[in-house]
Amino acid sequence: MDRIRIVGGNELKGTIPISGAKNAALPLMIASLLTSDTLTLENVPHLADVEQLLRILGNHGVDVAVNGRRERQEESYSRTINFTCRTIVDTTAPYELVSKMRASFWVIGPLLAREGQARVSLPGGCAIGTRPVDLFLEGLQALGATLEVDAGYVNATAPKGGLIGARYVFPKVSVGATHVMMMAATLARGTTVIENAAREPEVVDLAKCLTAMGAKISGAGTQTITVDGVTSLSGARHRVLPDRIETGTYAMAVAMAGGDVVLEGTEASLLDNALDTLRLAGAHITETETGLRVVRNGNGIQPVDITTEPFPGFPTDLQAQFMALMTRSSGVSNITETIFENRFMHVQELARLGARISLSGQTARVEGVTRLKGAPVMATDLRASVSLVIAGLAAEGETMVSRVYHLDRGFERLEEKLTRCGAVVERVSD
Ligand code: EPZ
Repeated sequence: MDRIRIVGGNELKGTIPISGAKNAALPLMIASLLTSDTLTLENVPHLADVEQLLRILGNHGVDVAVNGRRERQEESYSRTINFTCRTIVDTTAPYELVSKMRASFWVIGPLLAREGQARVSLPGGCAIGTRPVDLFLEGLQALGATLEVDAGYVNATAPKGGLIGARYVFPKVSVGATHVMMMAATLARGTTVIENAAREPEVVDLAKCLTAMGAKISGAGTQTITVDGVTSLSGARHRVLPDRIETGTYAMAVAMAGGDVVLEGTEASLLDNALDTLRLAGAHITETETGLRVVRNGNGIQPVDITTEPFPGFPTDLQAQFMALMTRSSGVSNITETIFENRFMHVQELARLGARISLSGQTARVEGVTRLKGAPVMATDLRASVSLVIAGLAAEGETMVSRVYHLDRGFERLEEKLTRCGAVVERVSD
């Protein structure tokens, strides 16, 4: 199993290309189930989660052509992929495929909207909390679907004639359930109003793509999304937006290690809150013509308190990375996680490197230390893994991160991107 070896101490200097967003690419790929025409997605990142979803979509009958050709181009950073689902050949998403990644559960929306039925295994994914599916079920029920959970599967059936538009108020903000409701509503009869919708940029990106496919959607990016159902959707060409979590992660890496890096192909507006927080911590961040420039020279890291929140608040997907940064601050920082109840697994691993962190309920109290020391550590989930890499960049000596398959789910060529900027980071295959 691969491991990542980091030797800390080097500043980062250079340019890092930011990939297409994993969390936008996944729902966009799933949207290809809604049409018999070809959906072309540009800037699709090359990640384990994307490969897994390609397998799942293939099972439903989606024909995939990478960069216009059938063979995979393993070497390219981002890819253009054509998805064509002339007919849905199977409305079941089996446990063996869905259990590996939570987002694969989202196929339930398009399958139900286009075929009137779906049988989808309850999902898996990163072990960061219980992650129930009640909001999906309630939302689809509001559109007239009949749902039952049986033997680990959700069996869903639309009324005769298809789903029916309705008003649904989410009791809690959910990114995935918003994606699914929006996709299901595109082909429903009448108007659907989704209240307390997620406002994440990935929701807006999906709405843009669905609109290009002929859907009638307004309000994406606000708390109320209105979808006027249409009878069919067509193909489209859409570019996946830049990955704001990858952007924030590398910005934090620069803040941690020191240096001067341009993050190319990204946009500040995707992560204003996190960038403002980083500025308070001592990083200088400016927009350039091609992206963002992040600089931290000799000045120290200041402690900043954060609380994770749905967009536009501080993202839960950057909480672990920010905690790594705070381990070297000049004071005490309180980090409160409000989205997932079990997203502090990196705490004990950061402690191996010498971090001083105590947990009380949903808040971690991080007392900055003057030095971290390299050690063997274990990746526990996607964002936790990269927090260990960030800590390793500033630790003395060697940090060896095991279980890096977590990292490969969401970070495209991490070691290459960091090495280009002067870090000592390498993949070790046993
Ligand atoms: C998306 O997950 C992201 N995944 C996550 O990123 C991200 O952490 C999360 O949104 C929050 O921003 C993708 O986009 C593929 P939610 P999702 O539904 O949609 C609860 C990463 O590292 N909830 O917004 O699964 C849920 O338990 C991943 O890239 C219910 O209670 O998250 C959580 O507490 C990890 N019932 C909260 O809502 C439901 O039916 C928000 O979850 C659904 C969710």
